[in-house]
Amino acid sequence: MREQHYYVKAGYVMKKENQPELREMTGAELKSMLKSSIQFKSLGGVKHSGLKLGDAELKWWRDAKFGMFIHWGLYSILGRGEWAMQNEQIPVEEYEKLAGEFAPGHFDAEQWAKLARDAGMKYMVLTARHHDGFSLWDSPGSYRGFTSMNSAAKRDFVDEYTEACRGAGLKVGLYYSPMDWRFPGYFKPHELPENALLMKKQAYDQVEELVSRYGKIDILWYDGAWLAHQGGDPDGAWLWEPVKLNRMVRKYNPGTVINPRSGWEGDFYCDEGSHEITGGIIPVPWEKNLCICSGRSWGWIPDDPVMLFDAAIRMMVNVFIRDGNVLLNVGPDKDGVIPEAAAERLKEIGEWMEQFGESVYSTRGGPFQPLDHVYGSTYAENRIYLHILDCKEFAKLELPPIPQKINHCGLLDGDCIPFVRTATGIKITISHEAEKPDTIIVLELDEPVEFDFVENITFTGK
Ligand code: GLC
Repeated sequence: MREQHYYVKAGYVMKKENQPELREMTGAELKSMLKSSIQFKSLGGVKHSGLKLGDAELKWWRDAKFGMFIHWGLYSILGRGEWAMQNEQIPVEEYEKLAGEFAPGHFDAEQWAKLARDAGMKYMVLTARHHDGFSLWDSPGSYRGFTSMNSAAKRDFVDEYTEACRGAGLKVGLYYSPMDWRFPGYFKPHELPENALLMKKQAYDQVEELVSRYGKIDILWYDGAWLAHQGGDPDGAWLWEPVKLNRMVRKYNPGTVINPRSGWEGDFYCDEGSHEITGGIIPVPWEKNLCICSGRSWGWIPDDPVMLFDAAIRMMVNVFIRDGNVLLNVGPDKDGVIPEAAAERLKEIGEWMEQFGESVYSTRGGPFQPLDHVYGSTYAENRIYLHILDCKEFAKLELPPIPQKINHCGLLDGDCIPFVRTATGIKITISHEAEKPDTIIVLELDEPVEFDFVENITFTGK
């Protein structure tokens, strides 16, 4: 074992001093410290040390790196996004009638799971219930029985989905929105407390159903614990009592990885949307969720353009080199079919993951700090993977020094590459003819990379 520890600051690997005290900061401070474009959601959630998973319990999720997000529900019939009910102020009674049309002729959870696997994903997260209140399972706790069991389909899709995930060797994730637009108490929790409490009861009953009836739930992905569309998720904590809610989850499923959007701080942090990720390595477990399509909507809309392959890979790599996971969303249509163009793109991504996955799965971001738009790195044991986004600029650089000996330097998919160690760092000679979204060079070291964050962060708020 090496005695010394190293950390990276401003692009340089440095010897680690004493681990500082737990540092409280806002998301804005973190952004500015890392010069980052991250936009963490729901910071400042209620803290409860007993609820948070330890490093060992979170390891599988951090190793998995890549998952499929699925937004699918009644709104997929309308094709105007999952917010159609609210945006268009569709009256509850009218919206509820859509259940009579919900008969997805081509729903096949095994096909979804197969596509996720083909894309190189390791987990899935399905919107078991979005803000419109429609539940994709046989839910006794659903207010007014607004469920897929009582729809034209008469099916429990969560049951089929959870089985399919497990059958495909994927971890099972469920998205659940505590809030529900059908409750006037959501919009006026102080004026209509009884109605708000009815909504809360529904959330507790339904979360209990989800975590107790479908075997092990690996990920619980909340969204929408704010109230009256004001503030963030932690602002609704007085109503939801998220510690109590998640204690119940832990009772059934002690190892469930829980996101921060219930008002409790959660096991990891979320950056949402299609914006590019820049800046330093993020020293907390985090996930970027975004759409494979335009991002105008998470639920299906017709002819939504799909991200270009190169853009998708660069987006993902920009997350991996900053130590994050990617949760990539698709919106199946009302029949349960994932649009062909999105499916094709996912398969292309899968081919890339198949070829280069060694530089992604089970790696961590580092030890070199990313240089925006030029390169960054991931590592596992005694290998460093340089992900080069701009070969021309990279060729001008010298990498910071590392303490280990470099036994080999070469393209992950090919030849050896010449390098020299100078007094100040490492100079790698690469040709910049190859136009790839990500050129990967592997450095094989004589000893494992030891990279540890000095920052030990907890968030106080925005
Ligand atoms: C936003 C959207 C919501 C979607 C979620 C996914 O919160 O409002 O509809 O489900 O992002 O992260």
